[in-house]
Amino acid sequence: INKIILDTDPGIDDAMAILFAEAHPAIELKAITTVYGNATIENGTNNALFLKKKYGFKADVAQGASKAIVREPVGPTVVVHGETGFGDVHAPTELSITADPRPAYQYIIDAVKAEPGEITLVAVGPLTNLALALDAAPEIAGLVKEVVVMGGAFGVNEHRGNVTPYAEANIHDDPHAADIVFTAPWPVVVIGLDVTEESFFSKDYLDQLRDDAAEVGQFIWDISRYYLKFYSEKVGLEGCHVHDPSAIAYVIDPSLFTLRKGPIRVVTDGPAEGMTIQKFDGRIHSHDDWESKTVQQVGVAVKDEALLKLYRETI
Ligand code: BDR
Ligand code: CA
Repeated sequence: INKIILDTDPGIDDAMAILFAEAHPAIELKAITTVYGNATIENGTNNALFLKKKYGFKADVAQGASKAIVREPVGPTVVVHGETGFGDVHAPTELSITADPRPAYQYIIDAVKAEPGEITLVAVGPLTNLALALDAAPEIAGLVKEVVVMGGAFGVNEHRGNVTPYAEANIHDDPHAADIVFTAPWPVVVIGLDVTEESFFSKDYLDQLRDDAAEVGQFIWDISRYYLKFYSEKVGLEGCHVHDPSAIAYVIDPSLFTLRKGPIRVVTDGPAEGMTIQKFDGRIHSHDDWESKTVQQVGVAVKDEALLKLYRETI
């Protein structure tokens, strides 16, 4: 069983990922730690608490960072995720349950130290909380089982970013944090747009989920109405990509993905701010120090049909 802490900016596809993790028997969802991104930190945390209460999760909720380490705030992604993060569904703010008193980075440090070698950190929002945890307690790098990140876009020549030609949203929101997380001495698997945009929840797939998966299916359908409107009007697709649930799918069944090894860096300013680069060839360069960075893994292909089947059967 994989014990995970899910660091997330809930978020429509974040909710899809949270419900997936909670439902699958190969995962024990120990905690949901929140971060700004798709919504403000207050709304994101409220959304996480709302799900915890609604579905009776045992997982703790700990509130995390409200802004990036260095860069100016980008602001909530209202056009994609709605005013409060769950599209047209607005979670009540009087929930009668509260978050853990510790900030997310401290929660992560304590949880990792309590179970050395056992915890997988799955991050599907900006990487600020993970970078803050590493800064406060660098020794956790040797104590975490694995870090799985949804973020980045490595198909440089195809201009594969989603918020700029080069950058994916989670990395663009806090490029400094992402560079810290990718170069730290812990094993990171990055599930970026190169694979998440290869899997697609069509309108029909979501209708079917609503019809077959009782209340949870209905909830996923309800929150995804706003998301689908964005995809239809702005992306030209009748359905949505499978971003955050893909990181959970990797934890459940790594064989769904083909990975490529090599150190990863992030561009922290300028027109390509938030761009992710992996060095995956053996070429020696006279002016770089990439060889000294941790060799990480990036998803380059996915068995999308099998992933969609896994999600459907789990939900
Ligand atoms: C990522 O950005 C957010 O909008 C989604 O929740 C996902 O984590 C995709 O670029
Ligand atoms: Ca997210």
